[in-house]
Order: sequence, then structure tokens, then C-alpha cells
Amino acid sequence: MKHEQASNRGRPRVMTPFPHRVLFLGFGSVAECTLPIFFRHVECPPRNVTVMDFEDRAGKLREWRRKGVTFVRNKVTPENLGSLLGTHVSRGDLVVDLAWNIDAGEILQWCHDHGVLYINTSTEVWDPYAARGTPPTERTLYCRHMGLRQRIATWTEPGPTAVLEHGANPGLISHFTKQGLIDIAEAALAEGTVAGAAAETVRGLLSSRSFAGLARALGVKVIHVSERDTQVTGVPKAVDEFVNTWSIEGFREEGTTTAEMGWGTHERWLPPLAFEHASGPRNQICLARMGMNTWVRSWVPSGPIVGMVIRHGEAFTLSERLTVEEGGTAVYRPTVHYAYCPCDAAIASLTELKGAGYRLQSRLRILADEITSGSDALGALLMGHPFTSWWIGSDLGIDECRRLLPHQNATTMQVAISVVAAVQWMIANPALGVRVPEDLPHDFVLDVARPYLGNFISTRSDWTPLKDLAPAFDGFAPNHFDLSDPWQFKNFLVKEGD
Ligand SMILES: NC(=O)c1ccc[n+]([C@@H]2O[C@H](COP(=O)([O-])OP(=O)(O)OC[C@H]3O[C@@H](n4cnc5c(N)ncnc54)[C@H](O)[C@@H]3O)[C@@H](O)[C@H]2O)c1
Repeated sequence: MKHEQASNRGRPRVMTPFPHRVLFLGFGSVAECTLPIFFRHVECPPRNVTVMDFEDRAGKLREWRRKGVTFVRNKVTPENLGSLLGTHVSRGDLVVDLAWNIDAGEILQWCHDHGVLYINTSTEVWDPYAARGTPPTERTLYCRHMGLRQRIATWTEPGPTAVLEHGANPGLISHFTKQGLIDIAEAALAEGTVAGAAAETVRGLLSSRSFAGLARALGVKVIHVSERDTQVTGVPKAVDEFVNTWSIEGFREEGTTTAEMGWGTHERWLPPLAFEHASGPRNQICLARMGMNTWVRSWVPSGPIVGMVIRHGEAFTLSERLTVEEGGTAVYRPTVHYAYCPCDAAIASLTELKGAGYRLQSRLRILADEITSGSDALGALLMGHPFTSWWIGSDLGIDECRRLLPHQNATTMQVAISVVAAVQWMIANPALGVRVPEDLPHDFVLDVARPYLGNFISTRSDWTPLKDLAPAFDGFAPNHFDLSDPWQFKNFLVKEGD
């Protein structure tokens, strides 16, 4: 790695040389933001870079094509995956998969067999809607991860590095969580909130960076990926239009399927419609209920929110990595899931989608230049420790985002810089096989990402899901709350009668 002088905001201190070929799959909202940042951080001749999308993205790529980037209009399918990829990349090259619905297992296998580095931001399958009619457990990301593990178990060597699910969430959120655990531990030690033998334990776990043990010793019960997107537009959503700040296809897919949660060992009640897994680490549950219809109370630095339990990879990988086992039994695990309050136009779009029996609107619009104000606050809300709650993450305003890179939005910026940080790490560590965000060094990733994250906040809060609770029909609807333990999932879940 070559060191550059620290300069303006968003300019890297470190450039990573990569003289090989790069294939970007998909040129939607995330890739459009990622490509320029990639060139800021990775020293790669533009003529080595090919972008593929089945939509015509030649216009959007005009500037980059002038510099040497090639655009290929084509669609990756089960039939052509090998031949198409083989035309553009080979041993030592890199695939950046920012498309939706390319089967992660198959593309991973191809990259493994051909010595090609691979990164994606979500674990996709060819046709996610084909799972209709199967039990909720079989429609889960958990199930997809189990499939990947079976595949990887057949390999005789780790092969080229492949980083799965490294966007903002999943992705950065796991690094926020580790930094949050460090911040809580340091504050607890400095303020004497833990003392005596407990303080010694925390000190030891902190210095060895044993994050599962640290989460347990600090008493963390629940981790929300809590997000409030306040970006608004002067061009309102029209009838029969879905408006969002990132992939509408991706959002619809994960929003209209089962809600998934990493399930904490402190939980005393399974929620209604819950299903448990019969095999694997069994660290998750899922619901026979769509994520977009499962709302929970949560908190971001601007105040309390309600958000949707949209399934995301960290509910699996992070909750598994934070599990402490004794004698083969899980004795500690926090509950981990998303609590997503998207931008106002997306909330209106979801309501319309639901009204139309989940049939996708005929027009789709991802907001960029028409955004008039707002920010994306995305962080890890760690709860149940001596400080009650602690939020750590990025609050990136649209103005700051535009200063970093014109024509993008705060949501895609948080994803793009995470992809680029992981790519830099992969180039330096090219033969480690398959990795998930928790495997990457959080300090390296955050170092690269921080200049792009706007306000990087790490702050305590006295918020609990029982704070300010005022059930509208107290005495007339069942009392669903457990006042003896604020951290039970039933206290977060928004239910009938609340
Ligand atoms: N981890 C995270 O934080 C995070 C955040 C946002 C998006 N994502 C994921 O990143 C991906 C990209 O997001 P986006 O907002 O850019 O989506 P998008 O819908 O704006 O763009 C995706 C692009 O991929 C193209 N595409 C899809 N399938 C293809 C195929 N088989 N062959 C060629 N091109 C194909 C589409 O035409 C589209 O232009 C999605 O899978 C999304 O779920 C992850």
C-alpha cells in the first residue's frame, strides 16, 4: 500500500494499487456511487474496468467511458454465468457484485474455481419469489447461509478472498458494533460503572478484543440496526410509483418475506408466528410475517422511532459471532435485528404496495438530485448494559454527501464506502477464502469509511422500549408488556392495542 498525504474530506490517506481487471455487476444506485470512490482509493487503470448491467447505463457512465471504462449491456443468468464472467475476468481479477438476484452460491463457486476475488453486499438467489409456499424457515437468509456453508465445506482450499454482505447493513454495522462495545467498556471502566473482579474481566476482554465475551460481560441484551432516513424530495411520489433511496427491487424482496432475528438467550417469549430452525447454529428465529409488516420501537440520536424488522445478514452473522458457548450450549447471545424507518416517500410507497396486494408499482424512482434535505442516520443501538442504551454510527446529511460526491444520496454513500474499504482489505489479503463482515478488522474499515460518514456518533441514552409508553387502550386490550425486563422482544414489538 502506498501512502498519500491526507488531504480534503473524502480523499484517502492510502491508495491501494490493483493493476488487474475489475468487473462491476449491476450499475444501479450503489454502483453509481461506488465506482468513483473506488477510483479514489484504488489505483487501477480505468481501461481495466468493465461495468455490466442489463439496463442501458451507457449514458450514466459517459464520463467514465471517456476515461477508459467499458460498459457491457448484458444480463447474468444461470445459463451464461460462467461464459460471461470468463470473458471479462480471470485469475487475480476482481468481481464487485452490486446486482440483485445473481445466485451468491453459484457466483462464489465460479470465482473460487477461477481464482477471482469477489465481493457483494447481500446474499441473493436467482428467483427469490420461487420460495412461495415453502415454510418460512426455508425462505430465510439463515437457510441461504447454511447452503453456502455446505458448499464451502466441499472445497479443499480457502481460495481467493470473497467478502459477503459488506455494505452499510449488513457490513459497516458489524464494525460499528465492535467499536460500540469498546466505547461502552472504556466508559464503564473510566467511570467505575464496573468495578472489582468484573472490571478486571472487562479489561481482559477489551485488550484481547473478545467481542462476544465483552458483550456478555457488559450485559448487552439487544442490538438494533436502527436507521432513520429523513431524506425528502421536492418531487413527491406519484400514484403507482415506488420511491426510495436505494434498490427498490432489493427492498421489496427482503421486505415482503419473513422477518428474521438473531434470537437472544435472555428472551423468555417467542413472538406470535415464530419459527425456529432445526439444524445449524440455531441462533435465529423467523416469523410467518413479512418484515415490512413487523414494526418495533427503536431509537436514533434524534429521538425514538418505529422501524421494520427487515431481514438482513447481520441478524445471522453478528448474532452468531456474539454467541458465547459453554459445553456446546449457547449461554449468551444478544437479540440482533434491523429496525428500519425508511424515507417518507418509501413509507408511502410501502403502504401503496400493500394496498395493491404487494404487486410492484409500474414506476420506480431512486432519489438523488431531487432530494431537498435530510440525512440517513444508521447505527448500532446496543442495549441492556450499565448505560442502558448506546448508539454508534453515521448520521450523513445530504449536503455533506453532495460535497463528498455530487449526484448521490446519503444512503448509497454509506454502502459505497464500505464496499471500497472491503475491496482495499481484500487486495491486501487476497487468499483468505470466504469472509463475512465480522471477519474484517473493524478499525481498518472504519478508518477508511469515517471521512464519508458525516457525523460519526457514539453516544449513550436512557432510552428503553418501555420509556414514554402510553398504551392507548390500557385496560381494554391485552397487556403485552413485560415490565420486569425491558429488553424482552415483546416490549419492542408494536402490537394491536398499543
Ligand atoms: N448491504 C447494504 O447495506 C446494502 C444497501 C443497499 C443495497 N444493497 C444491495 O446492493 C445491491 C445493489 O443495490 P442498488 O441500490 O444499486 O440496486 P439497483 O436496483 O439500483 O441496481 C441494481 C442494478 O443491477 C442490475 N442487475 C440486476 N440483476 C442483474 C443481472 N442478473 N445481470 C446484470 N445486471 C443486473 C439492475 O439492472 C440494476 O441496474 C442490491 O442487491 C441491494 O439489495 C445492500
